[in-house]
Amino acid sequence: MAVRTIKDNVYYVGAIDWQRRLFDSLIPLPDGTSYNAYLIRGNDRTALIDTVDPSREQELLSNLKELGVEKLDYIIANHAEQDHSGLIGRMAELHPESKIVTNPKCKDLLREHLLVSEDRFLTIEDGQSLPLGGKTLQFILAPWVHWPETMFTYLVEDKILFSCDFLGAHLATSELFVESVAEFHEAAKRYYAEIMMPFRNNVQKHLARLAGVDIRVVAPSHGPIHLKAESIIKAYSEWSSDSVKNEVVIPYVSMHGSTQRMVDHLVGELIGRRIVVKPFDLVVTDVGKLAMALVDAATIVIAAPTVLVGPHPLAVYATYLANALRPKVRFAGVVGSYGWGSKMLDTIKAMIPDLKVEVLTPVIVKGYPKPADFEALGKLADEILGKHRQAGLTA
Ligand code: FEO
Repeated sequence: MAVRTIKDNVYYVGAIDWQRRLFDSLIPLPDGTSYNAYLIRGNDRTALIDTVDPSREQELLSNLKELGVEKLDYIIANHAEQDHSGLIGRMAELHPESKIVTNPKCKDLLREHLLVSEDRFLTIEDGQSLPLGGKTLQFILAPWVHWPETMFTYLVEDKILFSCDFLGAHLATSELFVESVAEFHEAAKRYYAEIMMPFRNNVQKHLARLAGVDIRVVAPSHGPIHLKAESIIKAYSEWSSDSVKNEVVIPYVSMHGSTQRMVDHLVGELIGRRIVVKPFDLVVTDVGKLAMALVDAATIVIAAPTVLVGPHPLAVYATYLANALRPKVRFAGVVGSYGWGSKMLDTIKAMIPDLKVEVLTPVIVKGYPKPADFEALGKLADEILGKHRQAGLTA
């Protein structure tokens, strides 16, 4: 792939990964991704910001060759995760004249994960500047979005924020800049939900700090570059805010139809009360879509049959994931069925210590749901409506 110019002497030298469909052996990538690296040429010195996933080494090297880069003074490491740092050791080897510039925490992680030797590093502190000659890099430490060492690099003269994972999106596209805001926001929301949502408080804190920085361009490490920085910053601000919507998310699984019938009924009851409802059949669902739905929802209802006394393992997985992602849901319900006995409710309740929720009246039935069970589901819908009303989410 050819090098692309962002501004004078600021280049995109990363790689687009059209084929990748899974990240961390966990996160679905329906639209691929990109590993963005940037080269900045000052009058005196040249800096590379991040590298690419090790699988795309040849693309990075060929881009640097195309730019005629013979000498590299600095390799900036904004983040130690290997999709950006995996080639730092290799680049340092190819450029023995270079220094790896990062914060002390990132240095420790790079040393542990990539076995880079101590003498290759130049450590920086929060707010420190690094002059390149006509271009100045400034470092903004931004821990926990999403590792403890994450930081941003700000190019002062061009007002470009290299934000690494923050404000990014897993999206393979030939467009260097965000063209379709709708398409980008879908990918960016998915990325926020999967990667940033567990660190919502840190997201808010870093956004507040960035409000004091004059940012014209946001160049993240995944997905296209934002020429309208305020659009993605506003979206992050909304997603990470404390406000929730009149929405219910129902991750569910059914074995012989009882739970399915209950979910179908509950969905109808919620729709009848003008509550937005998003059911996800865990057998086929894309967990990224489930995570996205949890960004805004006020309520989650986990629905499952009983397997070996506990909830079906797919419901265990979804519950674990929901707890780990720490969405701002306020209410939780448990719905399901059993053959002869069940500890499902206690198991699920014990699995959500990090969800700050009020647990609603459960509806767990023996065998196929009967008229009284459907009535109980109607009451659950009433309870949800009442809670949403109290919270001012609906009339
Ligand atoms: Fe894209 Fe946290 O690495």
